[in-house]
Amino acid sequence: MTPTDDSARWDAEAEAFDEAADHGLRDATVRAAWRSLLVSLLPPAPARVADLGCGSGSLSLLLAVEGHTVTGVDFSPAMVARAVAKADGRSDVRFVVGDAVSPPLDRASYDVVLCRHVLWALPDPAAALRRWIGLLAPGGRLVLVEGRWSTGAGLSAAETVALVEATGRPAELLRLPEPVYWGRDITDERYVVRS
Ligand SMILES: C[S@@+](CC[C@H](N)C(=O)[O-])C[C@H]1O[C@@H](n2cnc3c(N)ncnc32)[C@H](O)[C@@H]1O
Repeated sequence: MTPTDDSARWDAEAEAFDEAADHGLRDATVRAAWRSLLVSLLPPAPARVADLGCGSGSLSLLLAVEGHTVTGVDFSPAMVARAVAKADGRSDVRFVVGDAVSPPLDRASYDVVLCRHVLWALPDPAAALRRWIGLLAPGGRLVLVEGRWSTGAGLSAAETVALVEATGRPAELLRLPEPVYWGRDITDERYVVRS
């Protein structure tokens, strides 16, 4: 599949995307859990955050509300359109159509590169990570939310830790088995790696 094929597939997902509890964060308890998790992982606001593969922008918006300045990048125009609509003209968050593999963002300009559930799907995750590290300002951090899902897709925590450590950076793993993040019980492997 080419990136264009993939983005068309995600365009088709955009309309219903926010129906999943962890996507739309419509449930106050789920939303509060993600808020609390991300606040614990990010530097104090205001930080400059790049949300790569931002989807419908739920995490980007959550962080903008917390006082951060956020740029979301997604290659699906329909996802970006939803994110822009949800932002409702806020000036502290912007959304760009672009490829997360080579984000159209300035190097060394972000305090945080955040990515949830996208790294696993990229053709060369190691190369993408190296590019993302190049976006970070001195002292900046990576926050990677990933999983190995019951479908068999994804990256195990050990694989993601190894990918980060191969860049020469440390990796701090926090597992996320609690149903409050997902709106239901889960039995597969979900986690965040911070570096
Ligand atoms: C599972 S969704 C996650 C969305 C968002 N990160 C979240 O957690 O709510 C995956 C998103 O990544 C985007 N995506 C996948 N590959 C991408 C790429 N190479 N460049 C940019 N966006 C990509 C898709 O369009 C989709 O919006």
